[in-house]
Amino acid sequence: MRTDLPGTPADSEALRTFIANGLERARKRTHALTECDEEDLLKQHSPLMSPLVWDLAHVGSQEELWLVRDVGKMEPLRCDIDQMYDAFQHPRSRRTSLPLLSPEESRKYIAEVRDKALDILERTPLEGSPLVERGFAFGMIIQHEQQHDETMLATHQLRIGTPVLHGKPLAASVLPRDLNALPKEVLVPAGPFTMGTSVEPWALDNERPAHTVDVPGFWIDTVPVTNGAYRCFIDDGGYRDPRWWTGKGWDHCREAGLVAPKYWERDGGGWARTRFGVVEPVPDDEPVQHVCWFEADAYARWAGRRLPTEAEWEKAARHDPASGRSRRYPWGDEDPAPHHANLGGAALRPAPAGSFPAGASPLGVRQLIGDVWEWVASDFRPHPGFTAFPYPEYSEVFFGSDYKVLRGGSWAVDPAACRGTFRNWDYPIRRQIFAGFRTARDATLAEER
Ligand code: AVJ
Ligand code: FE
Repeated sequence: MRTDLPGTPADSEALRTFIANGLERARKRTHALTECDEEDLLKQHSPLMSPLVWDLAHVGSQEELWLVRDVGKMEPLRCDIDQMYDAFQHPRSRRTSLPLLSPEESRKYIAEVRDKALDILERTPLEGSPLVERGFAFGMIIQHEQQHDETMLATHQLRIGTPVLHGKPLAASVLPRDLNALPKEVLVPAGPFTMGTSVEPWALDNERPAHTVDVPGFWIDTVPVTNGAYRCFIDDGGYRDPRWWTGKGWDHCREAGLVAPKYWERDGGGWARTRFGVVEPVPDDEPVQHVCWFEADAYARWAGRRLPTEAEWEKAARHDPASGRSRRYPWGDEDPAPHHANLGGAALRPAPAGSFPAGASPLGVRQLIGDVWEWVASDFRPHPGFTAFPYPEYSEVFFGSDYKVLRGGSWAVDPAACRGTFRNWDYPIRRQIFAGFRTARDATLAEER
């Protein structure tokens, strides 16, 4: 085993097994998420989402494009369906009108693609070109399927009515023992740090390359903003006060009639929420989720604070003041384990704020990875020196001021699709994703000393 840099096994047979396991884990999850009634697979649950049956065949279609045709140089299995499963050809809201493969045909198709992909994995040297180096293309496809699995979970959350999924209770060991003893915020002293990566084997194009960013001193919340804290913003009339909102945010707040996070409704004097078809009281100590960027930004201003920039978030998550280097994860370089973070999707919810002391950053910031995606202040832009790889439609076409960045990954993210450098993005009005936030503020010169 290599001892220098984790990420993928160094030995090529161990690497093949690692990849095969990653593909298998993603596929199990895809099947579990599409086990529901046929009608629910075919239906448009929201104009924001594809019918589940589209996601199902789309993961196979991408696997065919990249692994079977590109890496394997094999004949197409089905080139007649390329257009139908190309996300850029048809908006999500119009995919039910396509002659999509049925659920049964989709399952058969993705299984055939997978058989070929596994043959190719056996016979392809995992070095010699950037696409296959350390199994990159396979890693990209594993992450792609896991990302669609998270999207399918968001679709399930949008389904109304009966309980639709069953969460696994969080282990008692991850519950907070010391939230009240934690400082509210942590000082990240001024100075340069390494943002992004040039060495992480399966990092996607937008995480590259590593570069130095000098970040002025700032304070950042130790834990994500909780439902209880967010409720104070609501109770204080935050949704009715334009002082806290940007111009665009205020327009959106009024047009969309925002009064609380998505899936919340008033319940007597308190609040209830619907979570995967179950109505339950909103737990005060859990990180708030299903808020849009505009709500996060307004809350921060109401609290006398601001959202962290993307560089601040990543410095808080990765910078090790003792060594001066950036870690792969807040806790170090080891891959995520259950005691580090709430990942993988089984919990169906974020863990209470203050959980996972073992996942804290060197300065003591918690729950940066897992639980909720965290909106940051920044637009989605390329790192200096960015090159689109292997295709511009993954990241490059989304760069610009339309999209805001989310960092850290939610409870619904698989460890394979999550790193200290991983970047997600969405429109600032979107609330169906499993997103919350934490706040920050500038450090004063006196505090820096
Ligand atoms: C990175 C989550 C914004 O879902 O649009 C899936 C991931 N890209 N298929 C998305 C993705 C192509 C992407 N996000
Ligand atoms: Fe996709």
